[in-house]
Amino acid sequence: MRGIEHIFGRREDWVDKGVRLIRGKRTAPARVRALNGVDLTLRKGEVLGIAGESGCGKSTLGRAMVGLMHPTGGSVTYRGQPVMRGRRPRHLKLQMIFQDSGSVLNPRLRVKELIGEGPILHGLLARRDLEDFVADQLETVGMAPDVMNRYPHQFSGGQRQRINIARVLALQPETIVCDESVAALDVSIQAQILNLFMDLKDRFGLTYAFISHDLGVLRHISDRIMVMYLGRVVEEGPAAEVFANPRHPYTRALLENAPRLSRRNQTFQAVPGEVPSPLNMPSGCAFHTRCALRRPECSLSVPNLIGSGAHRHACPIVEAAA
Ligand SMILES: Nc1ncnc2c1ncn2[C@@H]1O[C@H](COP(=O)(O)OP(=O)(O)OP(=O)(O)O)[C@@H](O)[C@H]1O
Ligand SMILES: [Mg+2]
Repeated sequence: MRGIEHIFGRREDWVDKGVRLIRGKRTAPARVRALNGVDLTLRKGEVLGIAGESGCGKSTLGRAMVGLMHPTGGSVTYRGQPVMRGRRPRHLKLQMIFQDSGSVLNPRLRVKELIGEGPILHGLLARRDLEDFVADQLETVGMAPDVMNRYPHQFSGGQRQRINIARVLALQPETIVCDESVAALDVSIQAQILNLFMDLKDRFGLTYAFISHDLGVLRHISDRIMVMYLGRVVEEGPAAEVFANPRHPYTRALLENAPRLSRRNQTFQAVPGEVPSPLNMPSGCAFHTRCALRRPECSLSVPNLIGSGAHRHACPIVEAAA
């Protein structure tokens, strides 16, 4: 596949997670299959938006992509190599930025240590160059170099997220999985940080997998969209096409209820009805319990992704009606 340099994911069942349920006085093990049959390729230079409600497996997918979690089946590779070595991530070029910058940043370390220690540890930076290096990194994310002696609690959420971004950029990544990286921020700050992400992408030729439950955010930045529901992909395709012509009833419901970034209402309910428990997964198409188009056959078998070209979805009912 010419031009595709970042290959993630192949086949079948991905990540099982053990959960213990309490039944009476005894505990019985149960399994949550957090991802199932997810097959994705991330192309160099693109922004892949990964959408879906809470608990659908976005973070699990993100962690598996950067080698922070071992899938129980299938494989995850980066430039042809597995992303994990033993139980640890193999590639420094794959990094992840999390939602809650506050808890990721060690409160006892100063900004210069937060940003510089990683590169020193990995042999990318000599200790004598620490301050110059950190000053450059801070400028890159739009902060003044003189904040390097402060501690994380002395900053606002948006500034902490900039420090977090600088910390990850300092490791010279090629691909960054951003997991709800703006979700904890005020709307006006969200837009600033998204713009920063896009500037950095152009400047350093980065590739992003951008995970968000918020389609308003993904609409702003994505080249391609993948919509997940209870561990499976229900729709994927070029972002412009998916937003203009959503096919799967779940994507449609998400879009109908998603406010634009410019006029955000924080209290919206994404899709009517509850997400079923992954411990008690509905049979067939997992969305059928909430779907306006459901038919008896929807509960019989798990639909595959269908459609021509890059835009594919997993709803045979929609396809038959088209
Ligand atoms: N450590 C764990 N042990 C057991 N189950 C887990 C664990 N982490 C996640 N899960 C379960 O795996 C499923 C997928 O979780 P995941 O965190 O990937 O979802 P998510 O889409 O990122 O959700 P959110 O939007 O809330 O961050 C959920 O059912 C969740 O409860
Ligand atoms: Mg998550």
